[in-house]
Amino acid sequence: MDSVHVQTLWQIMEQLRDSDQLESALSGSLDILCEATGSPKGSIWMKDDQSGSLIAVTTAGTADATGESSQNGEGLIGEVSAKGETVIMSAGEVQNIRLAGVDSPAVRGINLMCVPVKTPKHIIGCLLLTGKETGYTEDDKAMCENCCSVLALDIDDKGFTFRPFEDREPIVEVRDVVKEFMSGEEIRRILRGVDLDIYPGELVVVLGESGCGKSTLLNIIGGMDRMTSGKLTVEGKDMSDPSEAELTEYRREYVGFIFQAYNLMPNLSAYENIEFIGEISDNPMDSEEALELVGLGEKANSMPAALSGGQMQRVSIARAIVKNPKIILADEPTAALDYDTSIKVLSVIEKISKENKTTVLMVTHNPEIAKMANRVVKLRNGKISSVRVNLHPLSATDLVW
Ligand SMILES: Nc1ncnc2c1ncn2[C@@H]1O[C@H](COP(=O)(O)OP(=O)(O)OP(=O)(O)O)[C@@H](O)[C@H]1O
Ligand SMILES: [Mg+2]
Repeated sequence: MDSVHVQTLWQIMEQLRDSDQLESALSGSLDILCEATGSPKGSIWMKDDQSGSLIAVTTAGTADATGESSQNGEGLIGEVSAKGETVIMSAGEVQNIRLAGVDSPAVRGINLMCVPVKTPKHIIGCLLLTGKETGYTEDDKAMCENCCSVLALDIDDKGFTFRPFEDREPIVEVRDVVKEFMSGEEIRRILRGVDLDIYPGELVVVLGESGCGKSTLLNIIGGMDRMTSGKLTVEGKDMSDPSEAELTEYRREYVGFIFQAYNLMPNLSAYENIEFIGEISDNPMDSEEALELVGLGEKANSMPAALSGGQMQRVSIARAIVKNPKIILADEPTAALDYDTSIKVLSVIEKISKENKTTVLMVTHNPEIAKMANRVVKLRNGKISSVRVNLHPLSATDLVW
């Protein structure tokens, strides 16, 4: 073993010792192995024993493969996980093969290595590393095989079983989305090629530093802003460059917005603030029901000025859900609220996500809030830097900060 090998193995063991949750064990190990091999991108795929398919649980780098699946025995991911043997391919070879589950332009024509994650008894998944400029070596292979064995034993030890998404057709597909703004004479590129799939009923949290493009991405998905280039597909319909009429209809029927500022009409009561949105929608729920859902049934006649911040935010949530939208987009919904009120508001969002099965995309820069998500997307400098599946999302009431 060379020194990189020993050091990496040590880092993996430290990571596993410090990980009380499987998600951090996986994403931490992936980061370490990407770094040690010089791979800009990577993913870990886990086998779902019931269906036999493999699901990308965590990714590093810009391509979002999480939630993508590959049938066991099919394509490269399936093959490695069925046979339990590492495959190394050079850029030229990758050009010409079919890669089930990673069949995206992002992995074509680049070097890759796929390593099984296995214990002596069974194969539980695989690690895919891509993009090492100089190609993967036998040393990389030996090191990753060792590290993946340690990882597999740890997963086995912790009694981990993987629950995949029930429905794998994404409701929203974001592809290579670029957004530029003019800043004086200069063009500033804010989103620099974002790829993301969102699945029906998922609660996805987007984390990232101030100014990294979170709101810009949310606004593009919600039809409030136009992209410079790229593709947005919603339920199979191309929304990359919609007409004004399509946009209006999309915003009215499809998406519910929740902002940091509640934007309630000051001269309308809580009920009227909701009712008025219900009236312009095709398939609204009862306004009273929406108020009940956010726990404000008895505040129907109150004016916004007589409500607390948390109550106003809950009215704004009721307003977002009254039209029965397919997607709720929430931009820092609790940024202006204290802890207790934030938890109340997050509990409402959790309830809508779980009970109404509404797809929720929520932006925050509070990493604690990410623990309630099914998936956590990190944006950095206008690109996705990682996507992680939360196998055991916390309930909003268990969040602490
Ligand atoms: N309409 C606009 N015109 C010019 N620049 C803009 C516009 N909207 C956003 N930007 C710039 O794009 C960058 C990203 O903004 P965005 O609001 O998406 O960030 P964010 O991640 O939501 O940040 P925060 O956490 O502070 O809300 C910022 O530098 C911002 O100044
Ligand atoms: Mg923002």
